[in-house]
Amino acid sequence: MSASKSNPYDAVAYPGHAFSQTHPGHLATIAHFHGMSPAPTATMRVLELGCGSGGNLIPMALQSPGASFIGIDLSASAIARAKAEAEALGLRNIAFRHLDIMAADAGLGSFDYILVHGVYSWVPPFVRERILALFGELLRPQGIAYVSYNALPGCRLRDLARDVMLYETRDIEEPLERVRVARAAIKRFAEATDPGSFYGAALRERLQQIDEIPDNVLYHDDLNPGARAFALHEVLDAAAPHGLQFLAEASFPNNFGGAQGPAQQILNAIPADEPLRQEQSLDLLIGRCFRQTLLCRSDIALQRGFSRFTLASYHLAANVREAEEKDDRPGVGGFLFGSDVRLAVDLESAKAALRVLGQAWPGSIGHAELVASALDEARDSLGPDIERETGRLNEALAAIYRAGLLEISLEPHRLITAVGERPVASLLARRQALAGNEVTDLRHRAVALDGVVVRKFVSLLDGTRTAPMLLAEMNAFLAEAHAAGRDAADLPRRATAEEVEMHLRDVARLGLLAG
Ligand SMILES: C[S@@+](CC[C@H](N)C(=O)[O-])C[C@H]1O[C@@H](n2cnc3c(N)ncnc32)[C@H](O)[C@@H]1O
Repeated sequence: MSASKSNPYDAVAYPGHAFSQTHPGHLATIAHFHGMSPAPTATMRVLELGCGSGGNLIPMALQSPGASFIGIDLSASAIARAKAEAEALGLRNIAFRHLDIMAADAGLGSFDYILVHGVYSWVPPFVRERILALFGELLRPQGIAYVSYNALPGCRLRDLARDVMLYETRDIEEPLERVRVARAAIKRFAEATDPGSFYGAALRERLQQIDEIPDNVLYHDDLNPGARAFALHEVLDAAAPHGLQFLAEASFPNNFGGAQGPAQQILNAIPADEPLRQEQSLDLLIGRCFRQTLLCRSDIALQRGFSRFTLASYHLAANVREAEEKDDRPGVGGFLFGSDVRLAVDLESAKAALRVLGQAWPGSIGHAELVASALDEARDSLGPDIERETGRLNEALAAIYRAGLLEISLEPHRLITAVGERPVASLLARRQALAGNEVTDLRHRAVALDGVVVRKFVSLLDGTRTAPMLLAEMNAFLAEAHAAGRDAADLPRRATAEEVEMHLRDVARLGLLAG
């Protein structure tokens, strides 16, 4: 059996991105936490099924020149774009093949990591079965498979709106017309429902979300009549005959994300050695719509829970800063994680550790180095028993990690945060900045650049220019743009040295600097 010859992804291109949650460095960390010995990213072999135009695989290949990557996809046009980009970047460690998942076999070799993002829910049952069979056939003994899919029960609510759109477009083939009619239909129907009813509220909420979804994504994700959502236990039941077991969710350790108060109590009452029941109950409590599930071979004895966990093997990172608003309690310091989580900390060494992490962000710092710097910074307030002080700091850091506020990674992030004399952004980011607003950072995240000036600035960071040279180039660019009258109304007349410094700090903070 093979999937259809006419691939809708040839008719309407799907946007390609980097997805940090699929990065093998991240998967290796989760596997290591569970007692596995994952392959190092420097020499790993990675396969992506349904890789599209390579937006996820290409940045990995650039970052790990000694590793090797294969991406396959049924869309000839997506594979042609992937090959052209890999060629333009001079990549020799990646191969893209126009190949049906149904035709993939052991001839591809064996792999440390197999990634399948945004495919499983959108392909026919026989392709889904083949994806799981390929995990079983091609994963190395300590290999990890990533599969994402629309999840139940959350997607049942979305499907209320999808039913309206699918019915109203049932006789329409042409993609853009399907999207146009679907958007008009869901608006008309949702606005005509009783807003006080459960059904009316669900349609209205989904209508708002659909307004934010680009046409090509809506066409493939929602208007594919064969798309299906799955409960976690259904996917695991289908995977088990292929010798596979549940490792963790890619969002680990934020297992209870979104579950509050009483919901947390229900989850806490489930033993750590019943991860499937915990995870499935979580979905039933929060109405999860999407899962990113990691699988490994069933003969591996996984370690569950935090009882034997230590941070010592990892590099740590946190997007944290001291809160401007001071805490009233004596000796207590307030810290802000991201933009909204506030934590009160009274242990001086933990405060020092958070300050060190904040300075290093978005980079990571090895555990031993972090502990040494924090203890040194807090030395005046420490007791004489350094072992005890180290233990207290480690306990505090472990608690912050369990709260989902600290990131750990087995390998350091390969980026720099101190701006050098001639700064370098990755080759990929420089190319992407010339083409559009979205670039891939060195932590494998898609980040948005704010406007044409910043895009131009990033494109200039090739390691040949000092700050004064960057200023001169930016001024030449602005002068030329104004002379040509090209969308120049919103552009400043001149750049200043202070702005160049600010852009450099921003670019470092975005995780774009490789040197
Ligand atoms: C929604 S897109 C996801 C692309 C990419 N993984 C991402 O998340 O951006 C689904 C991809 O799966 C590919 N695909 C669908 N059926 C396939 C099959 N039988 N064999 C290989 N690729 C397939 C499509 O061509 C498309 O590129």
